[in-house]
Amino acid sequence: MRKNIVAGNWKMNKTFEEADDLLFDLAESLKDLELENEEVIVCPPAIYLEMSTDVGLENNFAVGAQNCASEASGAYTGEISAAMLKSLEVQYCIVGHSERRKYYHETHEDLEKKVNLLLDNDISPIFCCGEVLEERESEKHFDIIKAQISESLFGLNAEELLNIVIAYEPVWAIGTGKTASSAQAQEMHAFIRGLLSEKYGTEVANEITILYGGSCNAKNAQELFSQNDVDGGLIGGASLKAEDFLAIIKSF
Ligand code: PGA
Repeated sequence: MRKNIVAGNWKMNKTFEEADDLLFDLAESLKDLELENEEVIVCPPAIYLEMSTDVGLENNFAVGAQNCASEASGAYTGEISAAMLKSLEVQYCIVGHSERRKYYHETHEDLEKKVNLLLDNDISPIFCCGEVLEERESEKHFDIIKAQISESLFGLNAEELLNIVIAYEPVWAIGTGKTASSAQAQEMHAFIRGLLSEKYGTEVANEITILYGGSCNAKNAQELFSQNDVDGGLIGGASLKAEDFLAIIKSF
């Protein structure tokens, strides 16, 4: 179902004590917040998932992983499976973040496998897509996004797709302080919804939550979230302090 979401991607930040403090601060800020059609998701490093779900379940936020294995189980040293995430009551998992595509060479096919495994385990993938600066400058950005979405998601049926959250994250805006303008975000989000509509029909496309990510912060969130097809944000740097994250949540 289409809802407004703010998801915090902590990436590889926070020691155990720092993570514990941030969870405590988040719990304090979120417990009395009235959320109607909004959901808050916290995506800590995997090692902190268990303590995060414990806090989240009692304090108004869902928990997501940042990644999962593309295989179901077995001899894959260092990997964490979708079934393991499920056993910790993790509800979401980021898939295909640009950092994973770039540094860990994840392919469309790997991402498709992850999406399927997550759905089999009742976990909603937060599927990331985004172009690099060179691709935008050479006006290939729409083709890139179309390929990323169609290659990894279009094997799903409509019922499965309804459990997916899409995050558009232009790579040139991630961690750079350079946000896409609200017009650029809206243009791409409308394009993505159009792609979904062509394949699955307008009714299904209108039910999908599409988040914006890339230097989204308390100052620009309201403007971005006010766009028709922008249903919230995937937040990196600004999710590392409860105060900043809360200000973004209040931007709807
Ligand atoms: P940023 O990261 O908010 O620090 O730009 C966003 C993301 O990578 O999800």
